Amino acid sequence: MNADADAVLETDGLRREFGKLVAVDDVSVTVRDTEITSIIGPNGAGKTTFYSMLAGQLDPSAGSVRIRPRGESGLSDVTGMEPYEINRLGLARAFQINNVFEGLTVLDNVRIARISREGRITDLTAVATEDEELTEGAREVLELTNLTEVADQEVANLSHGDVRKVEIALALGTDPSVVLLDEPTAGMNATETAKMVDLIRDLDEHTDTTFLLTEHDMEVVLGISDRILVLDNGALITEGTPDEVMADERVREAYLGGEN
Ligand SMILES: Nc1ncnc2c1ncn2[C@@H]1O[C@H](COP(=O)(O)OP(=O)(O)OP(=O)(O)O)[C@@H](O)[C@H]1O
Ligand SMILES: [Mg+2]
Repeated sequence: MNADADAVLETDGLRREFGKLVAVDDVSVTVRDTEITSIIGPNGAGKTTFYSMLAGQLDPSAGSVRIRPRGESGLSDVTGMEPYEINRLGLARAFQINNVFEGLTVLDNVRIARISREGRITDLTAVATEDEELTEGAREVLELTNLTEVADQEVANLSHGDVRKVEIALALGTDPSVVLLDEPTAGMNATETAKMVDLIRDLDEHTDTTFLLTEHDMEVVLGISDRILVLDNGALITEGTPDEVMADERVREAYLGGEN
């Protein structure tokens, strides 16, 4: 089944029902490490539900999720695993604000993320001690995410743009093979948005991490994506390059025709 050597994430018939509502309708997709992939779709299309199933936060009604664990070449089935298990294998979901300790410095937040990567979840004393390797690893992540200047500031004192970068840094701190970004430019002004787009491109180029994002800003989507997956009413209605997707009649209908 692992015919696609570039695949880092694959879903097969992934489905989630809430009562009679089919929020995600038998979605089968492949995300490759050679591409930045975006998932788009109108409000309520099922993007967040899809993410929650990938990350193990929501059980699928049917179907499966496979990811490429960090350091491995093939895919492993993670369907039904706990979020921390999936995270440890190599999938990180950014923008879960509850992962950020507002009262701690940026550096300490990333050190904690790295501890959790090593499975030393309860060993938070390591944060308070001089663990050279831990600190060095965390500083590398800050360098990659352009956060070195604010390393010693408490997260509570950062600008909105920097907080979003911390959330990406926390995800990267676990050395993931795949990072899921949920609307990385939401609430940002034009300057912050442009910087965030540059950062994601940069990280895609300079790390072994593959990025999958959801985004409402079509300018961002078309500018950053190598591949776009389009959900509508829970179903994958089309996928392809930005040009292919924008030429698709169903995409135009979903965006321009419906009540959204
Ligand atoms: N916990 C839940 N219980 C019941 N229905 C839900 C639940 N979560 C989501 N839904 C429904 O599932 C559908 C898909 O929602 P979802 O949040 O995944 O869409 P989305 O594409 O992320 O939307 P948005 O662009 O607004 O973030 C919607 O109709 C929503 O109301
Ligand atoms: Mg959503």
